[in-house]
Amino acid sequence: MLEVELCGLKLKNPLILASGIFGSSSSSLNEIAENAGAVVTKSIGLEERFGYRNPTVINWKCGLINAIGLASPGAEAFAENLKRFDFSSPLIVSLHGKNQVEFVKLVEIFDFANAFEINFSCPHVKEMGMDIGKDIEFSSLIIKSVKDVTEKPIFAKISAMHDYLRLSKELERAGVDAITISNTIPGMKIDIISKKPILSNVHGGVSGHAIKPIALKCVYDLYKVLDIPIIGCGGITSFEDVLEFIFAGSTAVEIGSALFYSKKIFYSLKESLLAFMGAKSISISSLIGSAHE
Ligand SMILES: Cc1cc2nc3c(=O)[nH]c(=O)nc-3n(C[C@H](O)[C@H](O)[C@H](O)COP(=O)(O)O)c2cc1C
Repeated sequence: MLEVELCGLKLKNPLILASGIFGSSSSSLNEIAENAGAVVTKSIGLEERFGYRNPTVINWKCGLINAIGLASPGAEAFAENLKRFDFSSPLIVSLHGKNQVEFVKLVEIFDFANAFEINFSCPHVKEMGMDIGKDIEFSSLIIKSVKDVTEKPIFAKISAMHDYLRLSKELERAGVDAITISNTIPGMKIDIISKKPILSNVHGGVSGHAIKPIALKCVYDLYKVLDIPIIGCGGITSFEDVLEFIFAGSTAVEIGSALFYSKKIFYSLKESLLAFMGAKSISISSLIGSAHE
């Protein structure tokens, strides 16, 4: 009832762990994979990165604001750690890099992954993530280069802040297999006692409740123009949110910040969706894009 097919991957449900939340070791990924349809790792680059100094995450009333700075172990060390992943659901490795040479090397190091998600959308690290996604030609070149060296599905994770219709259409032409939208959206918070920005990086990316309507509209818009699957991401905390994204046109959804509030979120969303589908005797895959009918 909850199974969906995503670029040839069979997911037991459409709920995917979003990158960066709980995804930096095999043991944490194994814990989530039991109930999730797939898991995405923290974004990984070739070299170890220490990221920004604290504070890096603010728990704000409508979600989170983070500027971690893509802190991550180097690729070789992380690949070693991932050998303990149990594959109870597919493994999607999220990659960050500065150019096609780096992304190709990363895809080769993680050749045991089921799919890759290319991070074109981190909003707070220069020359990476969102900066690359702003350059449609360069992003397309990266997609073509990685498609040349792997048969595995390649997802491009883009931002609601991009010219997302044009970017995703060009990436589709370049051969990308699916679009994930959205990453966090730039924002900041100021401490009223010190009168200074709270995050050490001054600004960061907003996630959680605040961005749900924005991400939902992106999915709805993209469904009209793309032939490849869309993975909606942003502010999903309830099974009703999941259904809205599926109706808008998501084949699957990614969930991140909701894990800060409940470690059991994947279990509870899955059970609620099962009850909903059971009551209606329909499969979730038959509902994809139904807001457009
Ligand atoms: C603490 C934190 C770290 C994140 N790290 C990454 C990352 O490494 N790579 C990435 O593509 N997205 C990263 N994200 C963005 C999430 O994957 C997701 O796109 C975003 O938070 C929106 O989904 P949500 O509202 O369900 O959290 C991070 C988000 C948070 C809150």
